[in-house]
Amino acid sequence: MRSPGLLVVTAAVFVVAFASAEETAVSRGEYLVFAGGCIDCHTEAGKQAVQLAGGRPLETSFGTFYSPNITPDPTTGIGQWTDENFLRAFWEGVNPDGDHYYPSFPYTSYTGVSRKDLLAMKAYLFSLDPVVKQAPEHELALFISTRLAAGAWKLRSFEPGRFVPSENRSTAWNRGAYLVRHLGHCGECHTPRDSFGAIENDRELAGNSDMPDGDSTPNISPHRLDGIGKWAVDDIEYFLDIGMLPDGDSTGSVMSAVVDNSTSKLTKEDRLAIATYLKSVPAQRGE
Ligand code: HEC
Ligand code: HEC
Repeated sequence: MRSPGLLVVTAAVFVVAFASAEETAVSRGEYLVFAGGCIDCHTEAGKQAVQLAGGRPLETSFGTFYSPNITPDPTTGIGQWTDENFLRAFWEGVNPDGDHYYPSFPYTSYTGVSRKDLLAMKAYLFSLDPVVKQAPEHELALFISTRLAAGAWKLRSFEPGRFVPSENRSTAWNRGAYLVRHLGHCGECHTPRDSFGAIENDRELAGNSDMPDGDSTPNISPHRLDGIGKWAVDDIEYFLDIGMLPDGDSTGSVMSAVVDNSTSKLTKEDRLAIATYLKSVPAQRGE
């Protein structure tokens, strides 16, 4: 017969194992929140701003969006959300009431992120101190001011679906593809869009000359003249780590925030995976 002592020990081991699985999810989730670039959009400018408490204005050609508070406050944040609510927001672009999100929340890319990664991010967000902070209402052009307009846009321009690894590619390539296309959503800025604002996947990473405020993003496909075809894998990794181009210049505008809040926080292995993937996409001529 088993001694009661042994049972107690087994139960204690079980509790410890459970607690550390929880901790692992939280710390993995923190890493994934960096990889996903969530902090940039969901934190207001200024030193006093609490991370991920929202309220940051995001200017677009359709008006100004204000990012919501994603700390676990039950009324102004996402404290009452279930796992299913969280998954559906990313996978389908709908809120817990079933209304459509605008693609200013880049679920167009996040739809490929795995259940395990999303739930780890949720565990991390729910481990933060809740902040009471209501984001202002979006200020949008009349024709898109209701969420039905976002639904109409999605019908044409949004394809939900998880990332499926490619069997005849390396582990590094698959990891890089997942980070670039989905979690790191590089194409949201670096891939051109058609006149309806849908990402043109057949021109992946060719650069976008039509960003809000007349900005543009460079071609980061491996085209030798128009893109970054002359960069070595190590040049790309170094750039994503410290934001310096092979010619010694520092990157500017929004990319420096991407480096600071996202790619510099990743492991070297993940940055190399991103570089491996970038080197493999079809070379695109510039716009
Ligand atoms: C490019 C900016 C941007 C990035 C990057 C971004 N978000 Fe958001 N997010 C938004 C905006 C804007 C909304 C609101 C969209 C709307 O109202 O239709 C939103 C909505 C949300 C919501 C729904 C909140 C609610 O109250 O309905 C959650 C949850 C969320 N984001 C989490 C995240 C996480 C986690 C990440 C990183 C993996 C992330 N977001 C990255 C801009 C962004
Ligand atoms: C919010 C928009 C945005 C996102 C997201 C973004 N980038 Fe950028 N990226 C830019 C802009 C803008 C520049 C040009 C910066 C400048 O003017 O110096 C740039 C520059 C670069 C460059 C330098 C190219 C050159 O020729 O100068 C590389 C490489 C790059 N990005 C890779 C990435 C990767 C990889 C990701 C995803 C992990 C990513 N970017 C996500 C906006 C973005």
